[in-house]
Amino acid sequence: MQDLLDLIEKRFGERLEAPQDIAKGVETIRGLLDHRVIRRFSDKPVDMAMLRLLCAAALSSPTKSDLQQGDVLIVADAEKRAKIAGLLPDQPWMAKAPALLLFLGNNRRQRQIAEWRAKPWPNDHLDSFFNAAVDGAIVMTTFVVAAEAAGLGCCPISTIRNHARTVSDLCGLPAYVFPVAGLGVGWPADPGYMSARLPMAARVHVDRFDETAIRDKVDAYDRRRDGIFPYRQQRDEARFGRAEFYGWSEDKARQYATPDRADFGAYVRGQGFRLD
Ligand SMILES: Cc1cc2nc3c(=O)[nH]c(=O)nc-3n(C[C@H](O)[C@H](O)[C@H](O)COP(=O)(O)O)c2cc1C
Repeated sequence: MQDLLDLIEKRFGERLEAPQDIAKGVETIRGLLDHRVIRRFSDKPVDMAMLRLLCAAALSSPTKSDLQQGDVLIVADAEKRAKIAGLLPDQPWMAKAPALLLFLGNNRRQRQIAEWRAKPWPNDHLDSFFNAAVDGAIVMTTFVVAAEAAGLGCCPISTIRNHARTVSDLCGLPAYVFPVAGLGVGWPADPGYMSARLPMAARVHVDRFDETAIRDKVDAYDRRRDGIFPYRQQRDEARFGRAEFYGWSEDKARQYATPDRADFGAYVRGQGFRLD
């Protein structure tokens, strides 16, 4: 148990109390606490049987109303993979990941079922998209948990949504199906590193949403994180200048000072969704 508390302290900068009755699941929780994104992989392939096993684990995850709206697309074809990787030259590790998967939101089947069963579909609104997106994200997360438990490493790739239309056309995504994120999967070439998180008190609320001293908490997190892994580069220095202290919040503020995927709504509407 102490090693779990050590991992928590390393991640969040605070020591929790040990719970009274933790009899089972320690190994699983340890794996979750020790999660790290992996972007460097060995050449060893990940075979299809392994990918299917992990898909089965991922598709066993909870799903809204049992609707099962998260799908997986394994990009096995080398030419297709190269085309997708070619869209993201600033993420060169992606081309080297032994396996590439797309996690999809699929609200299409639900609409097909309504048609097959001759039922109305009075649900053409944002929630139809949102539910499918949430299910797709849950499936991806569960895949990552299963893959990491098996010793694999993963990196999600939301930047495939920068090219959502091209990726959709390449992979034949029909109306009401859309990519949530890609995922590079392989055997880790290095152990990665544990990324520090905001303090739990900034993100875990009891009874009432609580922003007490949130700015101080973010400042303290910036400093703590800087003490572990300082940023090697400052984003958009030409525009914002060189900051004397460059922490996580400065980086995130700079990141979102430039429009990011402002056309994604248009793509989603193009897939047939109404978002109002
Ligand atoms: C939905 C999602 C999309 C992501 N997209 C990318 C991406 O496009 N490129 C990338 O290098 N990392 C991507 N990541 C990985 C995050 O950068 C990474 O999880 C984060 O920095 C925290 O690090 P950790 O996972 O090691 O804790 C993504 C993660 C998630 C959950």
